[in-house]
Amino acid sequence: MSSLLELFQKTRAQTVAICKPLEIEDYIPQPVDFASPPKWHLSHSTWFFEEMILKKFIPDYQVFNPHFGFLFNSYYQTLGDRAIRTERGTITRPAVAEVYDYRNYVDQHISNLIQNNQDQALAELIILGINHEQQHQELLITDLKHTFSYNPTYPVYKKDFNLTAQENAEEGWLQVDEGIYDIGFEGEGFHFDNEKGRHKVFLHDFHISKALVTNAEYLEFIDAAGYENFKFWLDEGWSWVQENEIKCPLYWKKIESKWYSYTLEGLKLLQPQHILAHISFYEAQAFATWKGLRLATEFEWEAAADQLQWGNRWEWTYSAYLPYPNFKIADGAVGEYNGKFMISQMVLRGASTATPKGHERKTYRNFFHPKHRWQITGIRLAK
Ligand code: AVJ
Ligand code: FE
Repeated sequence: MSSLLELFQKTRAQTVAICKPLEIEDYIPQPVDFASPPKWHLSHSTWFFEEMILKKFIPDYQVFNPHFGFLFNSYYQTLGDRAIRTERGTITRPAVAEVYDYRNYVDQHISNLIQNNQDQALAELIILGINHEQQHQELLITDLKHTFSYNPTYPVYKKDFNLTAQENAEEGWLQVDEGIYDIGFEGEGFHFDNEKGRHKVFLHDFHISKALVTNAEYLEFIDAAGYENFKFWLDEGWSWVQENEIKCPLYWKKIESKWYSYTLEGLKLLQPQHILAHISFYEAQAFATWKGLRLATEFEWEAAADQLQWGNRWEWTYSAYLPYPNFKIADGAVGEYNGKFMISQMVLRGASTATPKGHERKTYRNFFHPKHRWQITGIRLAK
């Protein structure tokens, strides 16, 4: 079997495996605008293969269902009208069983294509589709956790599946020398368009922490009234704290003077030595300021990455998500994949315990609005 076929089938099977512990009722709700229901992730990642590949490479291709383009197009203006993003939880049809039929139908066609067509452009699109599916596997998990977190009985998704129970393996500071560093993707292998345009960046010497901030360290910030003092916060962050009455990281809960956090294994007593998770950029920045330290830029992070242990948390950087020099928007719908979001978002580096294995890269640029904290985010300090 070709390695591409194997990778395709394994990735598709993994998405289904993530949904294995779900009940039918879990597939539908969308409690907030930024998360999507499992049924939508299953369908949208399938639609991506159908729309970007099957329609192009199979003459007279018959789509599985003519409504699905409208229902499962996420944000591609090039591809026409689409259902309202914030109303995905109201779509009860197609039923879950039909969505799995849709997946099988598309899997069969893509598998046949891989075996009968050696076109390089086709292989590259399939690899993009696989990486897209992996991004949605991570979102599927973090969105599911978010939906479950609204349930006062704290549902257990799966035993032995606590994505936030890691400890640091290293401590101390790494010193990085002043110099000119090459930033961006180089070489063979898959990468997103936003990593392209390798370029030189001058960095002053700096120190970057080998460890991520722990729950214990963050509790000190809470106990020092960090959330009540404007002077640590960016103006926008302070408004966010006030308007949303933020007092602790997402999923934390104080019960009879003890801190707990909701995990995919249910509600757990907060472990001080575990690495902090589920904080916004605003909180990361305020914490660093309170410490008299700062967050690294995405360039510092990349320059230091080979000497750091990373992969437990998406690490907020103090870099706006901007195009690298020579960034080019691709023609057609795939040009809308990353480039059009290069405004008002911050870059996160590394990967998290929800990131599929093999999806991570040291040049990977994840991005979210600074208020978001439902991804498995954390803090690495610099000075
Ligand atoms: C890179 C995680 C910000 O969530 O929209 C999924 C991933 N892109 N489908 C997102 C993505 C297209 C993207 N993030
Ligand atoms: Fe997508």
